[in-house]
This record gives sequence, C-alpha cells and structure tokens, in this order.
Amino acid sequence: MTIKILVRLLLPLYALLFSMATVATETQFSQGKEKSVICMTCHGTDGISTIDTYPNLQGQKQAYFIAALKAYKLRQRNGGLAILMHAQADALSEKDMQDIAFYFNQVTSTPLKNDD
Ligand code: HEC
Repeated sequence: MTIKILVRLLLPLYALLFSMATVATETQFSQGKEKSVICMTCHGTDGISTIDTYPNLQGQKQAYFIAALKAYKLRQRNGGLAILMHAQADALSEKDMQDIAFYFNQVTSTPLKNDD
C-alpha cells in the first residue's frame, strides 16, 4: 500500500526530471551547433571534413575533444597543421568547448540514398 503511494508520488517527479534533462540536452546540441559555424567550414557541418588533411570530428569523445582544444590553446600541439587551430582555440571559453564537443559527439550524417 505505502509502496503504491510512493510510486504514484515519485513517478511524475521522475517524468519531470527526465523531460528537464532532455530539454537541457537539446539546448546544448543547438548551442554547440551555433558556436560551431566557423569550425564547420573546415571540419564539415556534420563533422565529416571534405579535405583530406583536416580531421573528422563526428562522434569524437568529448574529453579528448576538449583536451585537444586546450592543447592548441596552450600551444602544446604545434606540429603539422596545428597552426590553423591556434586562433580557433584561443577564441573559445570552457563552456564553448563543452557545447561544441557535445555537438560533434552527437551529430550524425544523413545517409546517402542507395537503390539496392
Ligand atoms: C581553417 C580550418 C579549420 C578551422 C576553421 C577549424 N579547424 Fe579544427 N582542425 C583543423 C586542422 C587542419 C586540424 C589538424 C591540426 C593538427 O595537425 O594538429 C584540426 C584539428 C582539430 C581538432 C583535433 C582533432 C583530433 O583528432 O585530434 C579539434 C578537436 C578541432 N580541430 C576542433 C575545431 C573546432 C572546435 C573549431 C571551431 C572553433 C575548429 N576546429 C576550426 C582545421 C580547422
């Protein structure tokens, strides 16, 4: 009896928390997308780059993504084409990095149509 009452009381609470979490996730995705406009010119809208020497970002682990940006900012990454990333990383706050990392982690590509 008491358990039933508890469940009745707690279920709406769970539903509310779940919907709040979903809204927060959608917001971070759209915020990340807005902040990634410059990045997309080199890394692709969906994080798949069209230039062979520019890395793909789609699906990248968020912790690795943020660590890479910090390493550019601190000039710990200097080799290869890193120079292209220095000014990019300089312009980002901690929150920007989190939002952008979230966007590229979550984004997917529209599959190409095939007729088979
Ligand atoms: C002018 C083109 C250009 C722009 C704009 C650009 N990038 Fe890059 N990005 C590169 C290139 C080239 C590399 C590879 C650099 C290297 O050799 O270290 C790279 C590397 C990275 C990496 C490391 C990938 C890995 O696998 O280690 C991340 C993360 C990244 N970029 C994120 C961003 C973000 C976020 C933005 C926007 C704020 C951005 N980039 C804008 C060209 C660009």
